[in-house]
Amino acid sequence: MSDAWNQLLQDCCACTACELHKTRTNCVFGTGNVNADILFVGEAPGENEDKTGTPFVGRAGQLLDKFLYAVDIPRENVYIANILKCRPPKNRDPLPAEEDACMDFLRRQVRLIQPKIIVCLGRISAMRLIKPDFKITKEHGEWFERGNFLITAVYHPALLLRDPRRKEEMLTDMKKIREKLNELTENTNL
Ligand code: URA
Repeated sequence: MSDAWNQLLQDCCACTACELHKTRTNCVFGTGNVNADILFVGEAPGENEDKTGTPFVGRAGQLLDKFLYAVDIPRENVYIANILKCRPPKNRDPLPAEEDACMDFLRRQVRLIQPKIIVCLGRISAMRLIKPDFKITKEHGEWFERGNFLITAVYHPALLLRDPRRKEEMLTDMKKIREKLNELTENTNL
């Protein structure tokens, strides 16, 4: 791990910029391959994530793992992070001021990882990273170009737990992501 990455991790876990640091058990910085081609970005840590310091380890995370497995993207090959690094009380939606206070950590993560693809997990992440009026039911699976990377959004796995009928659309989107990854990396595997 580079010095810049370690510094970022230290800065993040020492952060007191918003009230959420007072109630966190652990800062949930992110996990995975720091040289990943794909970065997944969720919303904020939940209870299990706060306890363990690792993103997407609860029921929603286990469902995400199943989709990654289904399209042959090993979890350890990707990087997974959230917009917020600390858990909002009772899992309420992040406040805009909390997102503002936290976004610089994600920006620095993106700069160091340099992913080819960013996948927003759910509407909160898509509204922050793609556009404020992003409509997840209409625009999931669409590609948007941003300078050095492509960005798309899929349903949040927690939504799929509540509404399993949408799992089919999720699988279609995940397959598209797999195909795009193949396209973008095929020349580097020669
Ligand atoms: N939901 C998220 O958005 N992120 C997590 O890390 C866990 C659940």
